[in-house]
Amino acid sequence: KKKLILDLDTGIDDALAIAYAVASEEADLIGVTSTYGNVVTKQAAANSLRILDLLGQSNVPVYLGLPHPSTSNHFDVMAVSQAIHGVNGIGEVALEKSQRQPENESAVDFMIRSAKTYGTDLTIIPTGPMTNLAAAIAKAPELTALVGSVTFMGGALTVPGNVTEVGEANINQDPAAADAVLRSSASLTMVGLDVTLRTLLTRKETKLWRSLGTKSGQAFADIVDYYIAAYARLSANLNGCALHDPLAVGVALDPDLVQTIDLNMKVETEAPFAARTVGDVDRLNEPTNVKVAVNVAAERFLQRFMQRLTWLFAQH
Ligand code: BDR
Ligand code: CA
Repeated sequence: KKKLILDLDTGIDDALAIAYAVASEEADLIGVTSTYGNVVTKQAAANSLRILDLLGQSNVPVYLGLPHPSTSNHFDVMAVSQAIHGVNGIGEVALEKSQRQPENESAVDFMIRSAKTYGTDLTIIPTGPMTNLAAAIAKAPELTALVGSVTFMGGALTVPGNVTEVGEANINQDPAAADAVLRSSASLTMVGLDVTLRTLLTRKETKLWRSLGTKSGQAFADIVDYYIAAYARLSANLNGCALHDPLAVGVALDPDLVQTIDLNMKVETEAPFAARTVGDVDRLNEPTNVKVAVNVAAERFLQRFMQRLTWLFAQH
């Protein structure tokens, strides 16, 4: 089984990423680390604990990550994040508070320890800003050679950004951290807006979850309906909500879901292109380390996503 660490700013689609990992038999979710973005880091951890409990996964540990971008000492949640995910990050649905706490070990140290323990069996999946992973690489540079792969949700190569003309939200939160990860020697797969905006969920699917009559089916239907309503308000051209973060887990488990191109990448950190993920022309002749997803078998992923999550929600 593939060992997975999800690094989440939990968030509605982050919660769906947890559910997809838990529902996938070929995956062993060894821990969830938390970051800031859709909510503050502590709230992301609290949400991850609640979602794991709801899905009967109270054995999966949660670790606190860094509270703000690498280049600042402060973080405030953006109004647009609250509009999409709700102030509590999970669509204002009041899930039962977890009896558990995050672990004492930090997210950064957990990533380093797991890389040393599991080596190439380990895949790290950041679906928020990459502040934790960049800090882990800075503290233990050998991590990049140890881990099997890093499959992250973030960036855009062939389509516009979603928080600025050019920038995608996760990269935009900490462009310097994302740049450090992209320029590292880790074997990376970028699951960006190029593909995630093509995997959409609608109320037809949430209705099915609600009809299961279970606690998790009801809760996830309510949470995702909030996200669908936000997409209807904010992205009139899309019919449904984007499965950004679960697609990253899907691709980590089955790379054949996407077509990729091999590139060396970097992140622009200066205006007017700040936070844009671009090919690094200074490394044209070097071996490439990033597979950028540019096309996705959307139907195949959606079917698998629904099959797995419906099976999971039927049990809890
Ligand atoms: C990404 O930004 C966050 O709001 C979502 O959870 C997703 O990870 C999409 O740009
Ligand atoms: Ca996210």
